[in-house]
Amino acid sequence: MALDAQIDQHARDFVARHHQMLIGKDWVDAASGQTFETYDPATGEVLATVPRGSSEDIDRAVKTARAAFDPSSPWRTMSPSERGRVIHRLGDLILEHGDELATLETLDNGKPLAIAKAADVPLAADLFHYMSGWTTKSGGSTLQISVPYMPGAEWHAYTLHEPVGVVGQIIPWNFPLLMAAWKLGPALATGCCVILKPAEQTPLSALRLGELCLEAGIPPGVVNVVTGFGEETGAPLAAHPDVDKVAFTGSTEVGRLILNAAAGNLKKVSLELGGKSPNVVYADADLETAIPGAANAIFFNHGQCCAAGSRLFVEESIYDDVVAGVADHARGITVGPGIDPNSQMGPLVSQEQLDRVCGFLSSGETEGAETVAGGKRHGDRGYFVEPTVLAGTNPQMKVEAEEIFGPVVTVRPFEKGGLPPDANNTNYGLAAGVWTQDLSKAHRTAKALRAGTVWVNCYNVFDAALPFGGYKESGWGREMGAEALKLYTEVKSVVTLL
Ligand code: NAI
Ligand code: MG
Repeated sequence: MALDAQIDQHARDFVARHHQMLIGKDWVDAASGQTFETYDPATGEVLATVPRGSSEDIDRAVKTARAAFDPSSPWRTMSPSERGRVIHRLGDLILEHGDELATLETLDNGKPLAIAKAADVPLAADLFHYMSGWTTKSGGSTLQISVPYMPGAEWHAYTLHEPVGVVGQIIPWNFPLLMAAWKLGPALATGCCVILKPAEQTPLSALRLGELCLEAGIPPGVVNVVTGFGEETGAPLAAHPDVDKVAFTGSTEVGRLILNAAAGNLKKVSLELGGKSPNVVYADADLETAIPGAANAIFFNHGQCCAAGSRLFVEESIYDDVVAGVADHARGITVGPGIDPNSQMGPLVSQEQLDRVCGFLSSGETEGAETVAGGKRHGDRGYFVEPTVLAGTNPQMKVEAEEIFGPVVTVRPFEKGGLPPDANNTNYGLAAGVWTQDLSKAHRTAKALRAGTVWVNCYNVFDAALPFGGYKESGWGREMGAEALKLYTEVKSVVTLL
């Protein structure tokens, strides 16, 4: 590896370690002793070997988390302000180890190091900093009640907000550290105990985060990290009878499996699933921002974003200009290893994703889509795909109907006069974009779009305070913001007859 010398020494040391999973205070091998390999997506070479968890490891982690959730445990008896302090400290530690964590993300996931440093790491830290403030500020209320069949009685009624309990969290590989933060932040703020199952493609930053949790002062057993494959490790976690809640981010297909698995003990479920988000450019948009904005909406993180602006709709009169502009932008992107400072786009995460995205590209060709830019694999080593713009598509074509999860956008013109008819024509409803200088058109469009987030004259703007989640088949519940606390809270009504 010619780039070796540029790789952060701490990250290099971490990758080279004998990796174990975190259960309680212990770093352990899988009960079966089995391991699996993760790959550097820029080369396809083996990066690290990690424990291959099974239901036995999940059982052990659930027992450990249950003990850490005991009412007399250090975690449950910790004051809200101290709980806030340890969560805040975790955010600080992420920033202190920012270069190492960003490098782990780049090596494991493939994304450009500059992006991991500018986005993934600070957003993850900020999520913990933001959530740490809620420990002292969320709570129940006192209620005025009058019971019709007990006239004249006096009451003292209030609600208590209590942690939901032991939580299983299953996360994907597109933003490994950030997805761990989105999940852990509100669970810790509300006082839950967690078994985190990172994606098999990208387990490294979650393991490092587990160490930082202990260093921050989060009591052992509150955060457990079990590595392994979906069916072997994720499925028994989702089905476990002693888990109170499961939170999942990933494919809609697996979201349905999670829901079925949760039915046994009717554990609470929150889901953040796929998307096929419409991005609408009106003729009165400022094209200087709308064109690069529409390109970044799809090409950011190589299109491996659940919120990617993958269906671009452009008003007729500016269609040719916008298509040409986005295609130019696509052709101008430097594709290369994430660790190379010149790379603007790295490889896809895995051979499986490369095959999947290339499958979509050939189906687009077969179905008659017009390739305006890109359209094929980039090079023959690693999992790179060219940034691609497809025109002449329709909602019946797979490329316009299904989530591709790669750097591929379909673009279509629409007639003047309101929302493009097909903007909401999808089973998904995660996000959408609108580009216009007409204020009331912007708000009318935002209202008409059936999506959990609408970005106006911007795209991919995330903040720990902004709730994020999906309408329709894009999921259940909202992560981040005060909304996220609800996913991890049981509400208890207490009524006293005075
Ligand atoms: P996936 O949904 O299979 O994997 C996500 C997580 O779920 C991983 O941790 C995996 O180990 C786990 N998992 C898989 N099967 C499971 C099961 N039966 N029970 C419990 N956990 C299970 O996603 P995959 O296969 O990596 O990607 C396939 C497609 O999913 C992508 O092409 C993309 O369209 C979509 N996806 C969406 C994401 C999002 O952010 N909404 C993230 C990743 C993938
Ligand atoms: Mg899968």
